[in-house]
Amino acid sequence: MEKVKKSIIRNRKKTNNKKRTLMLLLVFFMGQLSSYVWASEPDSVYLFGYTKSEGKRFNGLMFAWSTDKKIWHSVENEYKYFKSDFGRDKTLISPILLKDEQGIWHCFWSVNEKDGMIAHAASDDLTKWKRQSYIKMLPDDNCLDIEIVKKGDAYNLTWIGKLSGKEKTYSVTTQDFKKFSEVKEIPSRTNINLRTTININGENGTGTIHKVKWNVVDGLMKAQQMVAYKGILHGESTHDDTTRFASLKPLEVKVNLNTSESKSISDLLIGVFFEDLNYAADGGLYAELIQNRDFEYALSDKEGKDKNWNSRKAWELKGKGVFWEIDSISPIHPNNKHYAKLKLDGSDAVLVNEGFEGIPLKAGDKYNFSLFSKIQEGKGGQVLVRLVDKDGKVCGEKTVNCTSANWKKQEIVLTATQTVADAKLEIHPRFKGTLAMDMISLFPQKTFKGRKNGLRADLAQTIADLKPKFMRFPGGCLAHGDGLNNMYRWRNSIGSLEARVPQRNIWNYHQTVGLGYFEYFQFCEDIGALPLPVVAAGVSCQNSRGGQQGGIAMEHMDEYVQEVLDLIEWANGGVNTKWGKIRADSGHPKPFNLKYIGVGNEDMITDVFEERFSMIYKAIKEKYPEITVIGTTGPFLEGNDYEEGWKIADNLGVPMVDEHGYQSVGWYINNQDFYDSYDRNKAKVYLGEYAAHAKGGPNLETALAEALHLANIERNGDVVSMTSYAPLLAKENFTQWNPDMIYFNNTEVKPTVGYYVQQLFGQNAGNTYIPASLDLSDKSAAVKKRVAISVVHDKVSGDYIVKLVNLLPVSVKAKLDLSSFGNLQNKVSYTCLSGKPEDKQLLPITSTVSLSEFTDKEIPAYSFSVLRFKKGK
Ligand code: AHR
Repeated sequence: MEKVKKSIIRNRKKTNNKKRTLMLLLVFFMGQLSSYVWASEPDSVYLFGYTKSEGKRFNGLMFAWSTDKKIWHSVENEYKYFKSDFGRDKTLISPILLKDEQGIWHCFWSVNEKDGMIAHAASDDLTKWKRQSYIKMLPDDNCLDIEIVKKGDAYNLTWIGKLSGKEKTYSVTTQDFKKFSEVKEIPSRTNINLRTTININGENGTGTIHKVKWNVVDGLMKAQQMVAYKGILHGESTHDDTTRFASLKPLEVKVNLNTSESKSISDLLIGVFFEDLNYAADGGLYAELIQNRDFEYALSDKEGKDKNWNSRKAWELKGKGVFWEIDSISPIHPNNKHYAKLKLDGSDAVLVNEGFEGIPLKAGDKYNFSLFSKIQEGKGGQVLVRLVDKDGKVCGEKTVNCTSANWKKQEIVLTATQTVADAKLEIHPRFKGTLAMDMISLFPQKTFKGRKNGLRADLAQTIADLKPKFMRFPGGCLAHGDGLNNMYRWRNSIGSLEARVPQRNIWNYHQTVGLGYFEYFQFCEDIGALPLPVVAAGVSCQNSRGGQQGGIAMEHMDEYVQEVLDLIEWANGGVNTKWGKIRADSGHPKPFNLKYIGVGNEDMITDVFEERFSMIYKAIKEKYPEITVIGTTGPFLEGNDYEEGWKIADNLGVPMVDEHGYQSVGWYINNQDFYDSYDRNKAKVYLGEYAAHAKGGPNLETALAEALHLANIERNGDVVSMTSYAPLLAKENFTQWNPDMIYFNNTEVKPTVGYYVQQLFGQNAGNTYIPASLDLSDKSAAVKKRVAISVVHDKVSGDYIVKLVNLLPVSVKAKLDLSSFGNLQNKVSYTCLSGKPEDKQLLPITSTVSLSEFTDKEIPAYSFSVLRFKKGK
């Protein structure tokens, strides 16, 4: 309104004609607006809660209001105030609203037409909704057209079921909306047709009408306006900087340090998040070069959508008169059922594996080849193993003898004679008969630290160079899985490779689990990072196939809790414990020093979740009080799961929670105080997944937004204990999620600009935070929020480290008063990452500069700078 009034005043100064027109317009406007703003507010109105387009994905509950039930005004342009979070489809079918006697609103709805499920959520004000529950009412009928009325001191819910082919009516009662009486089939219902259909904005909406005080509508409007306002803030990006900062000249900033206010901060702030997503493990970090080595690829890995994704994927049998099948009658191990069976006529059979889009070879390097074979018919004989380039030229070969009638492992070493990016593996059996083969494997000997069954050296080194203080694994969504059968079970991922349990990867491919818990823990040890395994909280992913986030049946929960406790024993137990011995037998008698364990991954916070999470949490706390359990607060930094997750943490006294938030650049610019107000007496925060998302990113702009956030996190390093950018790795052409920190293909590693921000924070961490104030020559808020500083002291090296983020299109001359650091060496290491916001490939440049320069040091536009000062003369 203020804007309308101001424009009226300005326009008065114009011509008479204009004045007249304006007056008319004003009168018209006043008339239009009067019922909204200038008339006195109605005491109470009718509120219509409705949906349109029944059954659509992400359909939401909208509102309209009326004083007379004739003229309806849509609330904030049909903003969706409530959405279903059920399964993948998230449909909200025929919601029905009811206000109980305590004034709490309840919404019931159907989630689909196949499950006998009724969904419920409650709200105090219709804007913020509490956790959703999905109540299984019927095993073999559905729940449609739900209605609810108060009867005596209980509420009576009725609905129609149609699955049996004829319409049946059912009823239950409840007093608290949590416990329900037994379902009864009833002849008919009398309270039918609580719903009305009203035309809103030219289209019919169906819902219920309620008489409410005006402040309910007002609250709805304000809530949406806040969302819209935040949307504007979060939409800020450097794209509009030329206009936003059109007249901005290079700036000056005086930096004043306040050493007396220094505080201890976490020394674990920068870690990594590893998930087998984007081919991060198989075909990526896991150095195995043979794709589908175990013939366990299955149609179901890709939900049946790719008919070529089966046991033969990546393999081809060439040669006339030969034939092969996939058998499962007598496997090497029941966990690895399928194997290849070749019927050979002694001529020219060749079984070829294409690797993961080719097998990269380096001239002179050695490769360990192995396979399990057994002869099922005939005597067997020699098998020539060859590496060939795409023209068929041999790049290395050797023979193995396959004569055993039982499964037997054969191992040879091949030396590559040339460097090839996309070789193939050929297996030439030279005899007549039937040959069974499985676990056909090729590993470079040069894995990271030369480990057997190890990791790709260049990728692993790139991760190590971040100097991560911890590594989280195995996910992400991969940890809780797509349905209960797809949960990552750590015990399935250890032991000999042929006995591990390969399974569908939730990201729609296959996981061999060759990179399993032993390898994860060993890698952590190799790079000096603490292991941070995340186990499912007894529930699977909220977006699982087939609907509801499933929970392990309560009668199996004790076993599951034991499995989690076993993990801790396996990691830390002495060699005389059951699981400690298993670890020792795998080659690691020393404990792995597990200190943290995540329980749950951004789960939907439901009663099903809370019950299971509490069981696991309490059991760990009781048996291993020294282990820090990390809880979960949902996928976002606000909203229902976030609030409910925090409530559970508060109630149980969980020491740390895992927050997730992928945000826009504008969010990072405008939420720099996000952690400033966090209660220091509550759980600590592990920001387990975050990244700046922007069109065209990842680039310097997103990297600087992340640097801004990390600078603010260092300031809050007394409440935020750990962070990990996500996801870490992505293979080009096999990427399901963007942006990622490090891209790669079979031969190259391509760190993003954001990687270097992580690395600079990781390599320049401290344990004491020294508050610093910035006095900028331009005092406007728009400018101020684009410059950030973080000053830390590292007690190990004794160094003081200043990090400066400049997200402005102009340079900033920094005047640092370093007197409170005492004597400093004259040579200062200065690292700067700068360029254009859209730059995708940049390297930080480190130089040594003299101390005196920092009383007047020019920090470039769009840059991140790290200054490292050493104590001394
Ligand atoms: O990091 C990618 C995915 O994002 C994770 O698997 C999941 O936890 C989140 O939604």
